[in-house]
Amino acid sequence: MRIIPNNSGPGARVEGIDLRDPLGADAFRTLLRALGRYGVLCFPGQELNATQLAAYAGRFGTLEVNVANLFHAEGHPEIMHLSNMKDADGKMLGLNDAGQGWHTDMSYSKDIALANVLHAKTVPTRDGHSLGDTQFRDMHAAYEDLPDEVKQRLEGRVAVHDFEKFWDMMRVRPGSIRGPLTPEQKAKKPPVEQPIFRVHPVTGQRVLYCNPGYAMRIVGMDPVESDAMLDYLFKHQAQAKYLHSHHWSVGDVLMWDNIGTTHNAVADYGADEHRFILRAQIMASLDYGALAA
Ligand code: SIN
Repeated sequence: MRIIPNNSGPGARVEGIDLRDPLGADAFRTLLRALGRYGVLCFPGQELNATQLAAYAGRFGTLEVNVANLFHAEGHPEIMHLSNMKDADGKMLGLNDAGQGWHTDMSYSKDIALANVLHAKTVPTRDGHSLGDTQFRDMHAAYEDLPDEVKQRLEGRVAVHDFEKFWDMMRVRPGSIRGPLTPEQKAKKPPVEQPIFRVHPVTGQRVLYCNPGYAMRIVGMDPVESDAMLDYLFKHQAQAKYLHSHHWSVGDVLMWDNIGTTHNAVADYGADEHRFILRAQIMASLDYGALAA
């Protein structure tokens, strides 16, 4: 297995591994450490079905079943389909607007996510270029670069994160098929408090854990001050030096760290430019510090 860091920003490419094969203890540790260090790992040229993807992702923790419980692979509620494609009867084959806006998956949940694993089966292209990038920002570096005064002011502070914030942002976008959250769905996802700075379980370093998709307000701060501080943190993390854009190819498996990065799915492709991706989400359910040691 070879791990080749990207030239700039977060991310690395992992070659010489077939993810259909069982992952030995050494390879597992190497990949876990690489996930913490690089934030985004691309495994090109893979060919996994839903069962194999669930087996690989499931090595890293419990797999989440999405609250919307829509568009999953047959027999695998933990493997979601992200797609703008339709079947012969015009029925959507997948969720067509997942993650279109900067966010961190599961920051709205008491139990947070370690990582996501996506596998591209169909990638939209135009004039020979792939569309529908997934973009990432490095929250280790964003924390490091904060002025000491801001670090001191926010150390130990928590922010409220709300699932409904991002859901409603998606709902108002043209072509969205999302309805309002039902009372049952809302009851399953009440707002939660998250530390603004979190110690990453693999690297042991602090990350900025406060994303524009879900963070609503800083607890115990005057609302005007809280809005201004969140605005500052969101602008700070949006600097180009923290960015990596993944240009998809068919066969890519992309695994990203949901604690040390934020991400955004770029909606730059049309209805007839087809995208089909399998997605698993890994909850932070294991002792990663011990596993990475
Ligand atoms: C996601 O946020 O999980 C979706 C990312 C993508 O479709 O590129």
